[in-house]
Amino acid sequence: MLDNKNPQKVREIFEEISPYYDFMNNIISVGCHLLIKFLSIKELNPQPNTMLLDLCCGTGDYTKIISKFYPKVKTIGLDFCDKMLKIAKLKNPKGTFMRGDCTSLPFRDNEFNYVTMSFGLRNIQDRKAALEEIYRVLDVGGLFLHLDFGKHNFLSKIFNILVPIVAMFFGKNKNHYEYLINSKEEFPQPTALIREFKAVGFKYKKRRDYLFGVISLQIMEKVN
Ligand SMILES: C[S@@+](CC[C@H](N)C(=O)[O-])C[C@H]1O[C@@H](n2cnc3c(N)ncnc32)[C@H](O)[C@@H]1O
Repeated sequence: MLDNKNPQKVREIFEEISPYYDFMNNIISVGCHLLIKFLSIKELNPQPNTMLLDLCCGTGDYTKIISKFYPKVKTIGLDFCDKMLKIAKLKNPKGTFMRGDCTSLPFRDNEFNYVTMSFGLRNIQDRKAALEEIYRVLDVGGLFLHLDFGKHNFLSKIFNILVPIVAMFFGKNKNHYEYLINSKEEFPQPTALIREFKAVGFKYKKRRDYLFGVISLQIMEKVN
């Protein structure tokens, strides 16, 4: 078992799984993750010439979707794993990506109209620090889109079975997959998560559940 969510360890895990991260996501979700990411961005309905920061951007899926469907939105992807960023850049040659830590963002207050984060927050040890940073860099009236596993229901357990099977084909470090499953199981379900968001000042805007609640989207607004 890994030292849970130690940032250095988390970075090492993503360094190691980066070459087959996209492939694994496609298999485990049967391609659904891209559709869900698209639908989630549609809920945000980003306006032209607005600034969007995609945190824990990984291999740059959101940048790819946004540049295709909302080309006038200015997007910056941030992640602390160089190898994930390298793939993001390959997938989005014109995209802007930078290395950084979500718990200490290299931006001024009120700089962004939207902040997105998919499948990232559950990897962050100090969630409160990351949420406070998101609140700080958002402009008043700005929106925070959060997407991740939602309800811990029967269907979500399928992920726990699929991940080790897919991992076997790659013959990679078993601990890494245990980490991915544990991080999902330990992560608060949407209602509790929304309470955490409100505790740092956010106002609830909307929630959408996908795949019978296995994946959940919450959109929160910065009010002052
Ligand atoms: C599961 S991946 C999600 C990637 C992408 N958002 C997606 O939906 O496919 C989680 C990402 O969060 C990044 N990450 C974890 N903790 C971070 C932190 N404190 N600051 C910046 N990035 C972090 C990892 O490097 C990894 O790329």
